[in-house]
Amino acid sequence: MDKKKVFITSQIPEIGINLLVKKGFQVEIFSGKNQIKAIELIKRAKDASALITLLSNKIDKEIISHLPQLKIISNYAVGFNNIDVEYAKQKGIIVTNTPDVLTESTADLTLALILACSRRINEGIDLVRKKKFKGWAPKLLLGKELTNKTVGIIGMGRIGSAVAIRAKAFGCKIIYYSNNRNLSAEKITGAKKVSLSKLMKNSDIISIHIPLNSKTKDLINKEKLELMKKDAIIINTARGEVIDENYLIEMLKSKRIFAAGFDVYQNEPKINPELLKLDNVIALPHIGSATEEARNRMSELVAKNVIAVLSGRKPLTPVN
Ligand code: DGY
Repeated sequence: MDKKKVFITSQIPEIGINLLVKKGFQVEIFSGKNQIKAIELIKRAKDASALITLLSNKIDKEIISHLPQLKIISNYAVGFNNIDVEYAKQKGIIVTNTPDVLTESTADLTLALILACSRRINEGIDLVRKKKFKGWAPKLLLGKELTNKTVGIIGMGRIGSAVAIRAKAFGCKIIYYSNNRNLSAEKITGAKKVSLSKLMKNSDIISIHIPLNSKTKDLINKEKLELMKKDAIIINTARGEVIDENYLIEMLKSKRIFAAGFDVYQNEPKINPELLKLDNVIALPHIGSATEEARNRMSELVAKNVIAVLSGRKPLTPVN
């Protein structure tokens, strides 16, 4: 009997690949330096039963309709806005993601951005590297203390809660905006659910943890951004398209807020060059889940989802 083929659009940690090989699947991996092009993906995966994709692979109707053998799209990310999930469902294809396994890593990075923005770490590094440090000075790079600050979490899901727990440990008060109440996060962190406008108005630090979909696209628009406190800090480790990036850049330029930390962008991987000119911006290359631990667990989970579905069992973490 022919082995079922699993096509992976990029090299991922070995652990998942080994699991698939051990189970007898034929694993084919795209090894090009750049992102795989749609046309090549279709050519190479046309006889595949499973597709393992990255968040940067747009898996739309066109691609899905050219892959007749497909039973599962296993996304190597918790976000799945890169996949036309509705169309996959119509075609009877299961879509899975990697929740839980990257929560702590992404929350760690969010805290790193909060601290770096509060304490102007990028400006400090720059100053030292450019040999401009002339000695201790009372007003050198004054930042903001975290204790007693109000942190507003937009989206109190797994990552939002993990950020709230960390912020609480730094002595912050937590408020949040979410579709539903998160009683467990409220119990652990004392967080209070508020409206989005109230959160924007009352937070010293705002951290975004919502998925991108038709309801959240541009949710944090000009009107919402305008509500921010004069000295606010805003952090986005979710998806660039949930925020009006151009307007936020204008606010940062005019020092209307204190700082912003970005791990994600509206036109990723392109970054608006204006953003990179600003001292009050910390910009990272979408590395929220980039720890050895999280990436190994993600690799294991994408493989386990494929194995489950191709063996006729239920997937571990379906999204549709
Ligand atoms: C995801 O998995 O969706 C994250 O954006 C990775 O950092």
